[in-house]
Amino acid sequence: MTSTKGEPVRTTADRLTELQRRREELAAHADSDAIRRQHERGKLSARERIELLLDPGSFTELDALVRHRSQEFGMADHRPLGDGVITGHGTVDGRRICVFAHDFTVLGGSMGEAHGEKMLKLMDFALSTGCPVVGLNDGGGARIQEGVTALAYYTQLAGRHVQASGVIPQISLVLGPCAGGAVYTPALTDFVIMVDGLSHMFVTGPDVLRTVLGQDVNREELGGARAQNTITGNAHYMAQDEKDAIDYARQLLSFLPSNNLEDPPVFDSDQPAGPTEADLALDRLIPDNPNQPYDMHRVISAVLDDGELLEVHPLFAQNIICGFGRIEGHSVGVIASQPTVNAGVLDINASEKASRFLRTCDSFHVPVVTFADVPGFLPGLDQEHHGIIRRGAKLLYSYCETTVPTVTVVTRKAYGGGYGVLGSKHTGVDVNLAWPTAEIAVMGGESAVTVLHRRQIAAADDPQAERARLRREYEDALCNPYVAAERGYVDAVIMPHETRESVARALRSLRGKRTSRLPRKHGNIPL
Ligand code: HXC
Repeated sequence: MTSTKGEPVRTTADRLTELQRRREELAAHADSDAIRRQHERGKLSARERIELLLDPGSFTELDALVRHRSQEFGMADHRPLGDGVITGHGTVDGRRICVFAHDFTVLGGSMGEAHGEKMLKLMDFALSTGCPVVGLNDGGGARIQEGVTALAYYTQLAGRHVQASGVIPQISLVLGPCAGGAVYTPALTDFVIMVDGLSHMFVTGPDVLRTVLGQDVNREELGGARAQNTITGNAHYMAQDEKDAIDYARQLLSFLPSNNLEDPPVFDSDQPAGPTEADLALDRLIPDNPNQPYDMHRVISAVLDDGELLEVHPLFAQNIICGFGRIEGHSVGVIASQPTVNAGVLDINASEKASRFLRTCDSFHVPVVTFADVPGFLPGLDQEHHGIIRRGAKLLYSYCETTVPTVTVVTRKAYGGGYGVLGSKHTGVDVNLAWPTAEIAVMGGESAVTVLHRRQIAAADDPQAERARLRREYEDALCNPYVAAERGYVDAVIMPHETRESVARALRSLRGKRTSRLPRKHGNIPL
């Protein structure tokens, strides 16, 4: 054997020195010009990121001594240790996770054969030990010099993410470029986190768009963190900086089990027993005018432990709120209409946002609480032609296949398809509650009289007065929670200030819930 310097290694002392030399080569990288350039780009190094993510001193690195075996394009003379990715495991809040961090300073963090082997080995380790994977992405994707071999490894990695889906939580942080087909590996994971001004994801970059399509768009507009969080919904959180991104990932992990055979961690909880000021304020929350909005966050924070919600997709489809919180120390997922944004209507984006979140909760044994104030599905040519039928159906499908404990509270409107889809009893939700202000009907009064009494109104001496009379008659008869309660479609009508206690009690009663389904390979959710 020869040393990295080409000298013979024969004695025990030589061998120990050689290991020391390789370790020094690794350590020297932390103080190299390449790392300084990374810092100048406003980015942390791969090792600094791992340090921020994991509990201090908990990281065990795997395959630090791996080098590529490529010969072409001058690669034989440049065989850096680690091959552009750092992999290993450590703990977050004392629970083990696997982590990989592309090292942009080494071959652009690109994936060749050796890098790919490290990634697959890490994924297999995570799958066999049942621990979450956090990916810190910052690289050029498939290594160009290694051609189809690089593509093969990238695609195999995608396959591992698919195998791991619903088995272990997978979180992707995009902390630099993520371009071409490489975008699809984070896209396959449960959560994508990006940093404002630092992260970019696109299938085809601005240069190609300019040349081939004549489209002039910069990286930020095309696939920056803001675009991916607000327009496309490809990312679930836009962090202010890398520390914020990593904190968010750590918080997500705190709500999730390590794998689908475990339950989420339970925290001590010391919540006040009787109605609090926040509980009582709910009795005054719903405006008398049905068209006046109110902030559903006030309901959510009154119900969750310490009023704390970790929102997922907070900048996307804001007409629906999704996020994690705790009730009596147990994780819950919250899905809630937001009347302050487009009256809380369900559109394509809201349906996809909520169904994805619901499926994530269901995969990992997180019970779901739904707060509904939903006027229905958004009408319009744009929505119809972009597939609101097929894409709205995802939400219905997701509620119908959910098996975790579920509780729905109707605070105000629950009309038509919105009622049926957004956690109604008929989708299989376990406990359905309604406030006295709930209006559960096929549609609101205005629309109903138009459909039912168009001719009668037109023939009236005073059409406006007749319309108002008919509308009142309809609303008095149908726009309340009691028609549904009489049929058992809602289990109880509760005072708003009783919501926190009622939801907690429902979830407590559902902790031992078990369901069984007919065997099948898998369902066929509309996509
Ligand atoms: C090899 C690469 C590389 C790659 C970047 N580098 N991408 N080396 N293979 N794919 C190298 C550069 O040569 C450079 O090396 C260093 O990394 C930094 O790159 P720069 O271009 O100087 O940095 P920057 O201007 O910040 O641009 C970063 C970038 C750009 C946006 C990532 O490099 C780029 O567009 N790269 C190609 C991206 C791409 O299309 N990849 C293929 C994706 S397809 P030096 O030595 O000069 O420092 C794919 C298939 C997946 O991944 C299949 C999944 C199913």
